Amino acid sequence: RLGQVAQDLGLDVFAVGGFVRDLLLNKQNLDVDIVVEGDGIAFAAEFARRFDCRIRTHRKFGTAVLIFPDQFKVDVASARTEYYLEPGALPTVEHAPIKLDLYRRDFTINTLAIALNGSHFGELYDFFGAQRDLQEKAIRVLHNLSFVEDPTRVFRAIRFEQRLGFRIGVHTEQLLRSAMRMGFLDKIGGHRVWNELVLIFKEANPLPAVLRMADLDLLEYLHPDLLLEKRAKKLFANARQAIDWYRLLFTGEPCRHWLVYFLCLLTDLDDQAVASLCQRLVVAPRLQQIFTVEREAAHRATNLIFWRRMHTAPPRPSEIYDWFQPLATEVLLYAMARSNNEQVQRCLSSYFTHLRSVQCELVGSDIKQLGIAPGPIYKEIFQRLLAARLDGELVTR
Ligand code: CTP
Repeated sequence: RLGQVAQDLGLDVFAVGGFVRDLLLNKQNLDVDIVVEGDGIAFAAEFARRFDCRIRTHRKFGTAVLIFPDQFKVDVASARTEYYLEPGALPTVEHAPIKLDLYRRDFTINTLAIALNGSHFGELYDFFGAQRDLQEKAIRVLHNLSFVEDPTRVFRAIRFEQRLGFRIGVHTEQLLRSAMRMGFLDKIGGHRVWNELVLIFKEANPLPAVLRMADLDLLEYLHPDLLLEKRAKKLFANARQAIDWYRLLFTGEPCRHWLVYFLCLLTDLDDQAVASLCQRLVVAPRLQQIFTVEREAAHRATNLIFWRRMHTAPPRPSEIYDWFQPLATEVLLYAMARSNNEQVQRCLSSYFTHLRSVQCELVGSDIKQLGIAPGPIYKEIFQRLLAARLDGELVTR
């Protein structure tokens, strides 16, 4: 249908980028990117008019998103043709607009295009050696200034390399290292670095990419104390176990695995270093709270459980509840991964499997019936009742 609309408007339309790359690699990718030689917004508007879908446009960038009724999205971009209208401007290059559009991209493997209309339908366009690099499993830039033009590509190179099991090409790695040495990463805002880090940590298994970041001195760049010790591997493996355990037991409950892994990365940083890293990367306030306040609270609680076990009586269930209840699931899973003490592990798992769902069955009207006037005392009564229930002192209503 995209091809049909393009044909009717006399435009050439291509599927491009990651979608085509993954098609050739036989990997699923539902992020469909379309480039139109001409006005992409007009194309998208005509498509939306004919078929049942909404459109969101970004005029400044000449892009649009087609949103189908089932929320499936197609990104549409415009390859500018006006540059080629003047006599002599790249006259001999067939499909110069799409070629130039692809030339601006990060790595050769992302420069494939498939024609979607007319007699060319289904034809693969490979202007920059993408098929060769897919075969050689190489991440290569298109030109020497790629990392200088967009330093976030340093992180993207690592992400693609590790996700696809490829290798950054020798020349590309040299360019990457020299862009870093020359401080180009400092020129992009901390929040852009953070966005790239999040994408890396959202990969199914981020450890290989983290090790590669260490190898390319990127961890040191993030913070000088961020040296990945040997035990990091064990920690990430433990984190994976804790995440799998949680997902198996509580299917469907949200668990942002990338947060657990990111907390593992921070494990050897002191509280001050974590706070300054969060500031530098312009991390959102809620996440900052998780990385600083909640992380510290989890460290304190697990140390306390350990200490109490050694020196006095083990903590009561109501105490465990009070320590863990304010903390995000991901912080608790990190604490689980980090602790090698059986007692701490047991407390965390009993919190997840039992304590956190214990509730006080009494409601306000029940207390009122006892002749107690509403006021702050109600909160105290609920808290005391819940504690009694948690500690097994109060079994029934
Ligand atoms: N791109 C780029 N430089 C960037 C970001 C993106 O050149 N800093 C280009 C890439 O060539 C990519 C396209 O824009 O193919 C779309 O970006 P994105 O959706 O991030 O890339 P995908 O390849 O689709 O990545 P993923 O598989 O992770 O979705």
